[in-house]
Amino acid sequence: APEVPDILSPEFAADPYAVYSAYRAEAPLLWHEPMQSYIVSRYEDVARVFKDPVFTTANYDWQLEPVHGRTILQLSGREHAVRRALVAPAFRGSELESRFLPVIERNSAELIDAFRKDGRVDLVSQYSTHFPIRVIVDMLGLDRADHARFQKWYTSIIAFLGNLTQDPEVAAAGERTRVELAEYMIPIIRERRANLGDDLLSTLCAAEIDGTAMSDEDIKSFVSLLLAAGGETTDKAISAVLMNLLAHPDQLAAVRADRTLVPRAFAETLRFTPPVHMIMRQPAEDVEIAGGTVEAGRTVTALIGAANRDPGRYAHPDSFDIFRDDLSADTAFSAAADHLAFALGRHFCVGALLAKTEVEVGLNQLLDAMPDVRFADGYTPAEQGLFTRGPAELPLVFTPAA
Ligand code: HEM
Repeated sequence: APEVPDILSPEFAADPYAVYSAYRAEAPLLWHEPMQSYIVSRYEDVARVFKDPVFTTANYDWQLEPVHGRTILQLSGREHAVRRALVAPAFRGSELESRFLPVIERNSAELIDAFRKDGRVDLVSQYSTHFPIRVIVDMLGLDRADHARFQKWYTSIIAFLGNLTQDPEVAAAGERTRVELAEYMIPIIRERRANLGDDLLSTLCAAEIDGTAMSDEDIKSFVSLLLAAGGETTDKAISAVLMNLLAHPDQLAAVRADRTLVPRAFAETLRFTPPVHMIMRQPAEDVEIAGGTVEAGRTVTALIGAANRDPGRYAHPDSFDIFRDDLSADTAFSAAADHLAFALGRHFCVGALLAKTEVEVGLNQLLDAMPDVRFADGYTPAEQGLFTRGPAELPLVFTPAA
């Protein structure tokens, strides 16, 4: 086997992109014994793992089920298509605009109001970890007084999903969260069925296709998935977009002056520093990929973070460049092939448009509230994490609002 740095090493944590580069060049199909998984890193191979139906999500039965129960991520074929179609309409453009845009604007503004007179903020702990969770709580029509509980559940679910070293305490906490969330959600779902409103929970209760509807348990599991899939990811995306722009002052100035560049800044951030770095699949039969064979039932880890920096796909891939002409600011929001931060194909992120809307609203409000925002003294841009990755903190200073 070629000598390449280990994905679980400190070297990787310090600079995964250098490690990815070695994988792409020297070990495009790598067997990782401790993870019991193959690893693929080239753009075309990662894209293929998402698109080719031979790669199933059977692995999610053990990765997600203990904490979420059964979600659309575990399903495939027609069953997945129908179950996905039950939830997808609520996340389309027209629905988002008319029902949820005010909720997004209000939650961002409330969080900004709490710090705008201070002249300093840690954007991660005071803004980005709260914003997407609060949006989900409001969208579902749940009690805002329970924000702290949702924050706790969310943190525990994320810890469970990232528990690569199988720490038993983290695993147990994740399974407790599943029980607590069910105890909280199931009575609310039952009550909501009897009193439908115009919130997302009511939409999920009423959704039906050809006689298939969501059970109380299905809805509870989907809410759990929303916390993880919609919270952690958007949290990282919004802090990363600001981190990347502040690290490139000329591009920040361009975005400030012309806000139609915000979608480009978001797309390039998703390419350059994707919130989700790796996704796993299992082939239903033996497959040839990346110059080798993956045997049926083996796990394959597809490195989004590596694919997005493949020099075979993107020019000068290691530079953050919102003006690059080989990345569309739009195709990120359909299943068209471009950066892989939202995956591709059947499981392409259902919440991509919601994430885009949240980041655009958030970034615009943040730039307006902090006209001279800059990194706090002593801070250098940094990311943390293996499965999901982003700024662990983002200390900023600015002239306080009068
Ligand atoms: C699926 C990334 C925001 C809900 C996915 C997948 C990725 C992803 C990579 C594919 C997972 C797989 O194939 O195994 C992201 C990123 C986001 C984001 C980077 C933010 C920048 C959101 C939001 C929501 C959401 C805001 C909803 C509130 C979902 C759901 C799926 C999914 C429900 C499963 C789709 C399916 O199985 O058909 N996301 N996501 N995501 N995402 Fe997102």
